[in-house]
Amino acid sequence: MDPINFPQFKQDEETPGLLPLDQERQIFLNEYPGYSTTTRLDSLREIDYSNLDRQGHVYLDFTGAGLYAQSQVKQHHQLLQENVFGNPHSSNPTSLAMTRIIEKTRETVLKFFNADPQEYVCVFTNNASGSLKLVGESFPFTQQSHYLLTYDNHNSVNGIREFARSKGAKINYIPVLLPDLQLDQDDLRFQLSQKNSGSNSLFAFPAQSNFSGVQHSLEWIDIAQAAGWDVLLDVAAFVPTNPLDLQKYHPDFVTLSFYKMFGYPTGVGLLLARRQALSKLQRPWFAGGTITVASVKGDKYYLHQGAEGFEDGTLNYLTIPAVEIGLNHISSIGYEPIHKRVMDLTGWLIKKLANIQHTNGQKLISIYGPESIENRGGTLAMNFYDPNGHFIDHLRVEARANEMGISLRSGCFCNPGDGEMALGLSADELTSCFAIKTNFEYQDFRTCLVEKSTGAVRVSLGLVSNFDDVYKMVKLAESFVNKKYSEI
Ligand SMILES: Cc1ncc(COP(=O)(O)O)c(C=O)c1O
Repeated sequence: MDPINFPQFKQDEETPGLLPLDQERQIFLNEYPGYSTTTRLDSLREIDYSNLDRQGHVYLDFTGAGLYAQSQVKQHHQLLQENVFGNPHSSNPTSLAMTRIIEKTRETVLKFFNADPQEYVCVFTNNASGSLKLVGESFPFTQQSHYLLTYDNHNSVNGIREFARSKGAKINYIPVLLPDLQLDQDDLRFQLSQKNSGSNSLFAFPAQSNFSGVQHSLEWIDIAQAAGWDVLLDVAAFVPTNPLDLQKYHPDFVTLSFYKMFGYPTGVGLLLARRQALSKLQRPWFAGGTITVASVKGDKYYLHQGAEGFEDGTLNYLTIPAVEIGLNHISSIGYEPIHKRVMDLTGWLIKKLANIQHTNGQKLISIYGPESIENRGGTLAMNFYDPNGHFIDHLRVEARANEMGISLRSGCFCNPGDGEMALGLSADELTSCFAIKTNFEYQDFRTCLVEKSTGAVRVSLGLVSNFDDVYKMVKLAESFVNKKYSEI
């Protein structure tokens, strides 16, 4: 394939506030002395992620997808090139070779999250959404059940409400509060106390928001379980930069996509389920691979106990070895430097972005979520405002970023609850927009809510982010200083 030419960031573009890169970097290093303990990640970026700088990318979408190291791909391809693997559902030698690797990968996954194999089962899925759907469609909701979830959730967690609704369960949302988009703790405590005794009820929340980066307290897991709830913890945005210890916390269901942690492979997700919780699930169907016996004439089927009963058809088996390679890659680096680096860069970035002003003193950027690095990760959602306080279309910011070779994201990131709170969209406003037409597209929101921003800009940091990346983000932001929204 021909190489793709990407737009390049122009280092010396004049902007009002920032000092030259080297000076700012030195000030940053003085302010964050512990950052120097993470320099191994700079060498790693140079050697194992060299495409990034060779092609001049500024990658700020780690919550969208992690990046893969070239060595991960090489190791995986070498394994495939040197071996013969068959479909793991048989007992022939090539099949057994594959089965061994898959079972070893399950062990590595459990070890990585410090999960006791007596307590947890590792189910491979297609992605986090696939894991969430498995729980949603199989959870034994009844008319006595509740499905309790937080405003701050990915749509694939929101979507479980439709399974709950179809079985007559009650659905309740816990709001997030402005300005920090943290959970309304009083309401959560109250709602948790409202569970019907004897019912199977589910409480779902993310360990880290994919919108605001807020990290919700994992102490809620114990509190909810003590009140009789099963707990689903979505860790898709948390585990790329934070360790999860399943000996310390014991959520009933844990969901993630591996590409968010280490970029490669895509197409494999994880459901970690406590054995007792898994045994409660009632699968709505059976498929190849999930049964011990199924009969046509006898009209009967028996599901496998454990993981296999939840893995429909043939696993993405040639790809699964890349999961172990990715987990080993993260383990060889360790979460400490990854987390430290991401949080130091996030701290600097928040301060710089939040302080940019137009000449008339009006702030350029409003950050949604905490402006300190307490209880948050390296994901920042924000909107830009002109000197008169009018929002600047997030799509314009994204377009400018694209021109400068910066990969960031704009929109609501599949997290409408956080988005609607952050953007101040009321239930009435939304309901009247939805009443206009039956087939609703994102563009229809923009037409309906002309005076309000319908999305935000998201910047997210990860494993190999460096100071240059965040510096360039601030440069991008400064290019909007003193510009009127209508002229951009
Ligand atoms: C917090 C969170 N949960 C779930 C998902 C869904 O992941 P996937 O699209 O890989 O299924 C995402 C994806 O962005 C996410 O950020």
